[in-house]
Formats: sequence, C-alpha cells, structure tokens
Amino acid sequence: NMMRVAVIGGEGIGPEVTGQARRVLSWFTERRRLPVTLEDAEFGLEAYRRTGKVIPPETRAAIDGADAILFGATGGPETAEVPAEARREGSLLKLRRSLDLYANLRPIITDPALYEAAPLKERVLRGVDFIIVRELSSGIYFGEPRGIETGPDGSRRGFNTNSYTAEEVRRVARFAFGLARSRRGRLCSVDKANVMEASVLWREEVVALHASEFPDVALSHLYVDNAAMQIVRDPAQFDVMVTDNIFGDILSDCAAMAAGSLGMLPSASLGPADTRGRRQALYEPVHGSAPDIAGKGIANPLGSILSVAMMLRLTLGQPDDAALLERAVADALARGARTADIAEPGQAALSTAAMGDAVLASLERL
Ligand code: NAI
Ligand code: MG
Repeated sequence: NMMRVAVIGGEGIGPEVTGQARRVLSWFTERRRLPVTLEDAEFGLEAYRRTGKVIPPETRAAIDGADAILFGATGGPETAEVPAEARREGSLLKLRRSLDLYANLRPIITDPALYEAAPLKERVLRGVDFIIVRELSSGIYFGEPRGIETGPDGSRRGFNTNSYTAEEVRRVARFAFGLARSRRGRLCSVDKANVMEASVLWREEVVALHASEFPDVALSHLYVDNAAMQIVRDPAQFDVMVTDNIFGDILSDCAAMAAGSLGMLPSASLGPADTRGRRQALYEPVHGSAPDIAGKGIANPLGSILSVAMMLRLTLGQPDDAALLERAVADALARGARTADIAEPGQAALSTAAMGDAVLASLERL
C-alpha cells in the first residue's frame, strides 16, 4: 500500500521552500522507510507557458491520484501574463473547492528559541500553542452573486456575497470541536454576529452543536475585531479557534507574528472523511508567493517543512515521525539557525537551502 504525495511548488518562493520540504520528506521515505512515492507536478505560470493551462492535465491527474498534496504558493505580479480566464480556471481557491477542502488547520506555536532573548516578547509569547480552524470552501470568497457592474450613469459597483449554509457551518464546527476535545478542551468561535447575518447563523449552529454533541468542550465566542486584539494581546489564552473563510484568512496572518514570522506557519486543508476515514488533504505554508523576496534564496522554509510534519501526522499515519520532525525544527532553532525573517538585527542569516540543511542535520542528530 504505497501512498502517493503530489509535490507542487507553484510560483514565487513556492518552489524554493517546497524544495526544502521535499528534501525533508525524502529523508523520511529513505531513512525511515516510509512507503511513500513523491510525484512532482507543475502549477502556475511555468505550466501556463508550457501548456497553456495553469493546471495541466498531468497535474490534475497527480492531484487526483494523490493521498496528499504538498503545495508551495501561487500568485505574484509576473502572473499578469496569464489571462484572467485561465487563472480563474487554475486558481488555488478553485482547486481547494474542487477537493472540498473545508477544514483549514493553522497551528500557531511559538518556539522558545525565538523569544528567549527578548524578555518583553517572552511575557506575551510563553506557552503559545493554538490552532485556527478556518472554513475554507465557502463564505464571501465564493458566495454568489458577485461581480463588478456599471450602472446606466457609468457609475461602478463591486460586490460579494457572504453566505453560509447551516450544514457548512456544522461540518467545520464539528471538526473544530473534535480537535478541541483531543487537545485542551477549549474552543473559541469567532464571528461578527452583531452585524452580519451569516455570522448570526454561524453562532446559532455552533451553540446548537455544542449542546447536542460537545457539552464537555468549553465554548466561548468573540467578535472578530476583539479576536484580532486578543491574538496580539495574549495569544496563549487560545486552544482551538474556529472561524469563517475571510476572518480565518486575516486572523491567521495576524497570529503568525506570535510565531515570529509568516514564514514559520504550516497548514493542512482537509476534506470530508470517506468510509475508511481518509480525507483529501493539501499541505502548504500559510504564506503566499512573496514576490518581494522571490528568486533570492532567502525565504524561510520552516512553514513548508512543518507542513510536512502535519502531513506525517494527519495523512501518512506517522505521529512519531511528525513529532521527530517538529523536534528537529526546534533543535535547529535552538542551535541558532535563522533565515533573514527571524534573525535578530546584526545576526548572520541562513539561505533557504542552508535552513533545510540545518533541519536535516538535526534529524540526523536526534
Ligand atoms: P505573502 O505571504 O506572499 O508575503 C507577505 C510578506 O511576508 C512579504 O513581505 C514576504 O516577503 C513575507 N514572507 C512570506 N513568506 C515568507 C517566508 N517563507 N520567508 C520570509 N518571508 C516571507 O503575501 P502577499 O505579499 O500579500 O501576497 C503575494 C502573492 O501571494 C499574492 O499574489 C497573493 O495573492 C499570493 N498569496 C498566495 C497564497 C497561497 O498560495 N496560499 C496565500 C497568500 C497570498
Ligand atoms: Mg492569507
């Protein structure tokens, strides 16, 4: 029962960080004899130049045949050369939706090595270990009607629709409650129920599900504006946070700073469980294609590498290997390995590849 992982670097720093994550995953397949084959696939501008499609048929086949996808990033200015229609056809949003990846897990864990030197930071960041569960397949990023329209007088209007069905709320909330139950038993649901109808429904469904299926989990609610402030003020108060698509997008970038850099954050996007309990899964760092640093070989690959740890745990069934990889990242940081985004002023920074080397060296050592 060989498992298959499709490796898709994508655009910008995507291929740079994914290259290091791929080396780490290969270390596990070779040294720990994991029955996993890696299949590289093209996505984005390069694919479009070669085939006229952002997601060529071979890539689609690799995705459909895969037990898990390791994804880099997409987007950036040079992709303007891809016509809007082709880009929409091959967008990451559309890919996530076609795989019905409704639960996007974004753990935020602060590594002691990154705050020990800074006493002020330490007070706020000690013990930060929470997961944002972002609804990923619905909400305002997908709702219809949407568009830009020009009125008879030539005035223009852009609009989107924020829409959630009760079932869409329930399935992501159920996932988050289950996750909270397996952790410290606390779930914070974030919405804007004081002004938005979809949020009113969101809160009603979460409350009902709590009463009927998860009374043992401690449930709290925050409005999204307060949640943003609380994440900055005291991120250690959270265990699991569940929220909708757009709020989760924004709050997780905000929460990233508790981990030192956007480049540190991994994510898993999961679909519904089949009869054997398996889920479609896409693993990617939280960050995007970072055009400002692309091509320089200085991006932090740890978010991508830690996404491999999530894959080992959630798809490949190797919790011990996942924990080993997380310890290896912590060990590399404890030994002072820093890319530019997490280096102290004046400290020498490692390249993307050298950070990959540092993690592999720690894996060998542990
Ligand atoms: P971004 O996440 O690409 O970059 C934001 C800032 O964080 C930049 O200053 C960047 O240099 C820095 N950064 C990000 N990842 C880093 C890493 N690994 N190491 C060091 N520094 C890092 O977000 P931005 O600039 O808003 O978007 C750029 C492009 O990426 C856009 O086209 C956007 O649509 C796309 N994007 C794609 C995502 C994805 O593929 N999942 C997610 C977010 C944005
Ligand atoms: Mg984002």
